[in-house]
Amino acid sequence: MSDESRPSPAAAPPGTPVAAVIPAAGRGVRLGPGAPKALRTLNGTPMLIHAVRAMAASRAVSLVVVVAPPDGAAEVKSLLDAHALPERTDFLVVPGGESRQESVRLGLAALPPGHDIVLVHDAARPLVPVDTVDAVIEAVRDGAGAVVPALPLADTVKQVEPAAAPGGAEPVVATPDRSLLRAVQTPQGFDRATLERAHRTVTDDVTDDASMVEQLGERVVAVPGHEEAFKVTRPLDLVLAEAVLARRRLNDGF
Ligand code: CTP
Ligand code: MG
Repeated sequence: MSDESRPSPAAAPPGTPVAAVIPAAGRGVRLGPGAPKALRTLNGTPMLIHAVRAMAASRAVSLVVVVAPPDGAAEVKSLLDAHALPERTDFLVVPGGESRQESVRLGLAALPPGHDIVLVHDAARPLVPVDTVDAVIEAVRDGAGAVVPALPLADTVKQVEPAAAPGGAEPVVATPDRSLLRAVQTPQGFDRATLERAHRTVTDDVTDDASMVEQLGERVVAVPGHEEAFKVTRPLDLVLAEAVLARRRLNDGF
């Protein structure tokens, strides 16, 4: 049977070890000047450490692979050493690549055998709650090749003809039915063999891993995402993230 025509994965047994790959190699151009985005701090702790803790908070996750900025692997290693992390979890750091896709591929290449479920989680989503992580893992265990956490959209969405120059007026072409659309977050969860095959096969530029699995024709399912799993992209998102942390601290105090 050819590599491309394999049947969908069977449900993974309950104890299947889970690894999380955290692409953290981006610059964060939209956040403005400063350190690489994953190293910027939220309430004094680097975003990356928040994201690592969010993955390690799941008891199912036994390995976290951090994909560091290409020249920042040593710095990321010492950050991991300097922060308290769960004893039951192993950590690896590898240098990343030019694109998110390449960074994820480098993270996957570093995975030792035995972790047959893989999460891919943006370092830029530092505050995802553990219940969302566990819901994604559960859906992979139930037999989906790929699982995405997703939320309904708040805004109406328009399709336009993009303007030649930024800031120009853009003709509106269509208004897709919002009730059929979802905004997709991470961690996205995968049957490892399916994700590895997607990264070997799909060479188009994509912004998430699940779309590569879609291109293989495999079943991808969405489970409920969480508003706290938003991506820190622009400066206002830093304000929101610190507000979420402050609210958590308050709630923990009572
Ligand atoms: N990422 C990566 N390697 C790259 C580019 C992005 O590992 N070459 C990671 C980022 O570090 C981030 C995640 O992919 O955790 C999502 O990307 P995004 O939010 O776009 O982050 P950046 O690419 O860093 O931001 P920007 O696009 O504003 O430069
Ligand atoms: Mg980017």
